[in-house]
Amino acid sequence: MFETLQPVQPDAILGLITEHRNDPRDQKVDLGVGVFRTAEGETPVLDVVKAAEQRLVDTQDSKAYIGTAGDPDFNAAMQELTFGSAIDADRTITIQAPGGSGSLRVAASLILRARPEATVWASEPTWANHFPLLGGAGLTLKSYPYYDTKNHVINVDQMLDALSRVPAGDLVLLHACCHNPSGLDPTEDEWRAIADVIVERELVPFIDMAYQGFANSLAADAFAVRHLAGLVPEMIVTNSCSKNFGLYRDRVGTLSIITADAESRATVNSQVNNVVRTIYSVPPDHGAVVVALILNDPELKAAWRLELAAMRARLREMRVLLNDALRARAPDHDFSHLVRATGMFCFLGVNPEQVARLKTEFGVYMVDSSRINIAGITAGNVNYLADAIAAVL
Ligand code: LMR
Repeated sequence: MFETLQPVQPDAILGLITEHRNDPRDQKVDLGVGVFRTAEGETPVLDVVKAAEQRLVDTQDSKAYIGTAGDPDFNAAMQELTFGSAIDADRTITIQAPGGSGSLRVAASLILRARPEATVWASEPTWANHFPLLGGAGLTLKSYPYYDTKNHVINVDQMLDALSRVPAGDLVLLHACCHNPSGLDPTEDEWRAIADVIVERELVPFIDMAYQGFANSLAADAFAVRHLAGLVPEMIVTNSCSKNFGLYRDRVGTLSIITADAESRATVNSQVNNVVRTIYSVPPDHGAVVVALILNDPELKAAWRLELAAMRARLREMRVLLNDALRARAPDHDFSHLVRATGMFCFLGVNPEQVARLKTEFGVYMVDSSRINIAGITAGNVNYLADAIAAVL
């Protein structure tokens, strides 16, 4: 049977982990996969997660199955984190999911059951796994313009124009904040204009929120989600706790769905839980219980907010550091988009040949598109990195 298969290329992002690990050079720099790193280049377990895990070890008395929807305490806390306190509970469903990717996968199956003919419109560019993941599940995807690669700005007029021609009933995939890969998000006024087109065209927002708290604040980063939630009859939101809780490998996330009314909520709830049962039966529990402990305990929650703010501040600092180092070495080149972007990523703005040279000649790893993970920069490697970039310009 397996003789029918052909090998596939390693994943464009995850493949870099192995390549970087196997590189024997001391001065190598990993700007590939999106994981947070400290000033020492580590991705440690957050202190608040350690504290919650200790509490869990001391108190958890069963590892029996949880239901398809996961832990109700976790779901309620995540729903509030996502939508704020103005939740229309009669129309909103939140279920636990195995990370943001698992949540996207469940959403894909639900969309296919509800409206198989729908197209999902995604930004050009978007997260490298959106098309494989959602398309692999059977959805049809197309792109709307978003990033102007020449000027390193987002082109909201072109985006609005494209969305104003999308057929009613289609879905628009949006990044709630920290757009991956560009790091550039619409302003609040631009979000309002995007929301107006979505309402006018009767489109369904499908919002991927993988970096809440990494751009400006937990509330500010949820602006698009909360604004749209107050305007549209139906909407889908996928959340990830990989980055803001550092729980990458524990696979923690939620899928939230807003339905037109309470009656359809009951139907959609039964359908989405049935989707879960037919894919992975029940979600993993450990990381979600840890998040529930943190979000439902004022002291732990305050400690988490501080750790999150420190991660956000470090990303900002590294953006400034690299921009300054590049300005000193290549004054004719404009890298100011590095500091205009937020969150973990942005494009460096070099071509694929230059990306390849950075890897082979200097051991600097990034995605072929020149997307860099800002968290890979440290005060210790920034000069080496800037020298390397200047050398290939
Ligand atoms: C990334 O974009 O690097 C992260 O979201 C990790 C991943 O799974 O691709």
